[in-house]
Amino acid sequence: MEGEEDYKFNTPLFKVPTSSFTKNGFRLYVKFEGLNPTGTQKDRIARLHVSAAKKQGYYGITAGTCGNYGASIAYYAKLYGLKAKIFVPFDFHPTRLEKYASSNVEIVRVKGYYEEAVAKSIEFAEKNGFYDANAGSKNSQLDYEGYKTISWEIVEKLGNTPDLVIVPVGNGTTIYGIYAGFLELRNNGMIDRVPSMIGVAPADANPIVASYLSKSNEYHDLAPEKIKITEENEPLANYKSLDGKKAFEAIRASRGFAISVENEDMKFGTSFLKSKIGIDALPASASAVAALWKVPHEIIHNKIIVSLITGSQK
Ligand SMILES: Cc1ncc(COP(=O)(O)O)c(C=O)c1O
Repeated sequence: MEGEEDYKFNTPLFKVPTSSFTKNGFRLYVKFEGLNPTGTQKDRIARLHVSAAKKQGYYGITAGTCGNYGASIAYYAKLYGLKAKIFVPFDFHPTRLEKYASSNVEIVRVKGYYEEAVAKSIEFAEKNGFYDANAGSKNSQLDYEGYKTISWEIVEKLGNTPDLVIVPVGNGTTIYGIYAGFLELRNNGMIDRVPSMIGVAPADANPIVASYLSKSNEYHDLAPEKIKITEENEPLANYKSLDGKKAFEAIRASRGFAISVENEDMKFGTSFLKSKIGIDALPASASAVAALWKVPHEIIHNKIIVSLITGSQK
C-alpha cells in the first residue's frame, strides 16, 4: 500500500470521571482501541504481519483466533490482496471476524479451544506455504513491535508516564509488547520509569492470572479440562498462553500484579464506560476498568492509571 512507511495508529486517550467510585483520588484514562479499523489493538500487529507477508512474496496468511485477531488479519489481507485462512474454535462467537468475511478470506471452524485452532493454522501454514501470523511463531517479533506503539502513544498523549497500565490478557502478547515499549522509552531516556503492568482475566480461564494468584514464581499452563470458557471471556481464555512467560515476567519486573475478573465484572465495566464516556467497549476488555473495584484503594490512590479498552462487536 502507498505511504505504508508513514502509517501511524493513533487511538485516543479518554479521561474517565472517577466521582462514582466510593474512594476516588486517582486519575483514570482509557486508551480506546475501538477506533482502530476493526476495533481492537490486533490491527496494530495484523497490519505488520500482512505487510511483511506481502513483501516476502507470500500468497496467503493464516492464524488461529478467538475472532478478534482473525478480523484484523481478514481486513488487512483484503486490503493488501492476500488470501487469509483463519481457524476459529467451533463453539466460539467470532461476530467481528464474520463482519470482515470476503472472497479473500476462508474461515475454518476447529474442534477444541484457541490452542487447537492455532495448531491447525500452523499445520496449514507448513503444508501450504502460507505466512504464519500466530502468536509465538517465528514472526512474533512483529507483535511486540506493533504493541510498543501503544506505550509511545500513551506517553505522547498523557505528556507523562502513567503509574499503572491495566491490560486484559489472553496470550499475554499485548501486555508484554506494551511493557517492552515503555522499557524502550526508558532506555532511550524519554521517560524515567516503567509503569507497573497489571494483567486482567478470569483466573479459571487464563494461566497468566492463575499463575500470579497461586503465588508461583513462574508462569504455568492450566489443564485444558479445567478452564471455564464463556461467551464474554472467550478473547482471554487460554490454557496455554503463548506469551505467558514473557507476560508474567513483565508483570513481575514492573512490580505489577494480576487481577481475576468474572463475567459480571466485564458486563459492569462495559455499562460503566458507556454511561461515563459513551464508548461501546467489548466486555472482555472492559475488565481492565472493572478490575479497579477489586484492588485495595491504597494501591490506586493518587495514581495515574491507563486501561486498554477495545470496541464491542456491534
Ligand atoms: C479484545 C481483546 N483484548 C485482549 C486480548 C488479549 O490479548 P493477548 O492475547 O495479546 O494477551 C485479546 C485477544 O484475543 C482480545 O481479543
